[in-house]
Amino acid sequence: MPPTARPVVLDVDTGVDDACALLLAATHAGLDLRAVTCVGGNAPVDDVVRNTLTVLQAAGRSDVPVARGAERPLLEHPRDARHVHGEDGMGDIGWPAPTLRPDPRHAVELLRDTCIAAAEAGETVTLVTTAPLTNIALLLRTYPAAARGIAEVVFMGGAVQTGNATASAEFNVFHDPEAAAIVLDAAAQLAIPVTMYGLDVFYDPVVATAEADELVAVGGRGAAELAGRLIQFQCERFGRDAATIGDAGAVCAVLEPEGLTTQVLPIRVELAGHWSRGRTIVDRRDWSGDLSHDPHGEPPVRVRVALGVDHQRYSALWRDTILGSGGTS
Ligand code: RIB
Ligand code: CA
Repeated sequence: MPPTARPVVLDVDTGVDDACALLLAATHAGLDLRAVTCVGGNAPVDDVVRNTLTVLQAAGRSDVPVARGAERPLLEHPRDARHVHGEDGMGDIGWPAPTLRPDPRHAVELLRDTCIAAAEAGETVTLVTTAPLTNIALLLRTYPAAARGIAEVVFMGGAVQTGNATASAEFNVFHDPEAAAIVLDAAAQLAIPVTMYGLDVFYDPVVATAEADELVAVGGRGAAELAGRLIQFQCERFGRDAATIGDAGAVCAVLEPEGLTTQVLPIRVELAGHWSRGRTIVDRRDWSGDLSHDPHGEPPVRVRVALGVDHQRYSALWRDTILGSGGTS
């Protein structure tokens, strides 16, 4: 791994597209994957741990510690997304169970230890979250000193324009709205820059079935074959000839931020609305009169919001990296 590789930690609810994100983070030479932490979301947390270990084993990354985190949201009732990701949470593709074992620490302790160790070494890690933010909320409120070792949080979640879990809310934020609100508040207080990779860009980078077939043909039960099988699963499930790399786009945004069109904007998370709970309310108004007469006042939190993406660039980055990673786990 080159000395210039960027230290990253992923917090995941593996999930088909979390697996796509992990495969990129585990195989790209420009990233130094220090740890992966798991949270309940797409699937129950124990399935998330198993799926995450499966992916890292396929990528030949037994060196990366994986820890089990929050089983359920801070307040909201737990829901899963197995209608999207399959019963096992990773496409029911029948991949062999992992032989790797998780780290004995809780996810919050592994996050704390990894961030503080980085700070003590004069480094910082980029925290990429592709899941409900429960672990991150617990980390920042329990161990705020960990912030010294965090360069930035890039979170897949929220949206400016739309929802998917509901008409108004994106799944990761809807799953644990309190956690999302806490993370945004704590990051602002701790001066941690935040980038939101939301639904406005999430679906755009896609990989075609023909490309997936090429990945599967590499064989050897490695990263490429697994990546191809995951794309094939999504294409079959949704009856399409291409599938989004989803969460992997947030890792692409770390590698090539110039592929995003962004703006730093005020943001709030709706916690009380009946039909709008979990909505990320991004304020795009640009007339001072509106703002100065707004009884809500300006939110204390501003994040860098992804408004557009060079989707062909990110699709090629993901596909070419994993295709080039070879076929053996
Ligand atoms: O809304 C999309 C997000 O919800 C992705 O992270 C996907 O994996 C699911 O967790
Ligand atoms: Ca996810």
